[in-house]
Amino acid sequence: MSLEQATAFAPASVGNVAIGFDILGFSVDAIGDRVTVRRTASPGVTIKAITGVAADLPLEAARNTAGRALLAMHEALAPGFGIEMSIEKGIPLGSGLGGSAASAVGAVVAANALLDTPLPRLELLKFAMQGEAVASGSMHVDNIAPSLYGGLVLTVGIDHPRVKQIPVPADVRAVIVHPHMFLGTREARAILSKSVPLSDFVWQTANLAGFISGCYTGDLDLLRASFEDVVIEPQRQALIPGFAAVRAAAMAAGALGCSISGAGPTMFAWSRADSAAAVRDAMVAAFAAREIGTDPWVVDIGTRGAFVEAA
Ligand code: HSE
Repeated sequence: MSLEQATAFAPASVGNVAIGFDILGFSVDAIGDRVTVRRTASPGVTIKAITGVAADLPLEAARNTAGRALLAMHEALAPGFGIEMSIEKGIPLGSGLGGSAASAVGAVVAANALLDTPLPRLELLKFAMQGEAVASGSMHVDNIAPSLYGGLVLTVGIDHPRVKQIPVPADVRAVIVHPHMFLGTREARAILSKSVPLSDFVWQTANLAGFISGCYTGDLDLLRASFEDVVIEPQRQALIPGFAAVRAAAMAAGALGCSISGAGPTMFAWSRADSAAAVRDAMVAAFAAREIGTDPWVVDIGTRGAFVEAA
């Protein structure tokens, strides 16, 4: 039975995962956005309120990531009722933790529960992608797909996306360290060179293939060897004060790899469970040495994606 009102939680996510620029990401359910939608008699999509850690966002639906995603869904389905939405932001703006994606995912997952015939997740993904385009100016899926599906997620294709949840070795944890600063995704994309030297292309391709292979086979040595972004990270690291020291500290503490979460400034590392706390503490200390405060988390990677909360 379809509902009058529904609330969905959509987790944060780490995009790129070093070697999969715009195509690979994993969910981080330590934080997330919560979106409530309600059927209304008036037509269209309206945003009633935005609260939480990033309340200063446009209330006009067409200019808001969640609003744009819902507008796309509403226009495609013409459900015969309007939708009013409230967004509770749990993900800081400009953190590199997929906040805009989570709002868009939360909106479409919640709205799906209002429909007489709910859509499969792949259809929701396409609507949520429209929202992401508002925030970053491009249709990338590396935050949308993990926030929606959960876990480590590879997405192949944009017009006809194929989504693959990649198994992560059970002993691996992710360390997430969010420095207290803002970095706009548009800005961090605008600085990227449009061309890649052939040798870097080969290196990065090998790393992505090695990383995915290491995940499927549980080969942590291969994961460690492949965990290096030779294309994007060198161009973006100057945007994050202390980047080199934080990365070096993580690796010295036993990380399998450490890089920028999405467009930054959040940094993440993967490590074995028994060294995750040491990696976290090392990264926090390296930021602190530059008088940069942080919020750190250690998380499992195989978590579920967005879900409708019980009423
Ligand atoms: N893949 C994107 C980027 C994620 O790195 O620009 C940002 O949302």
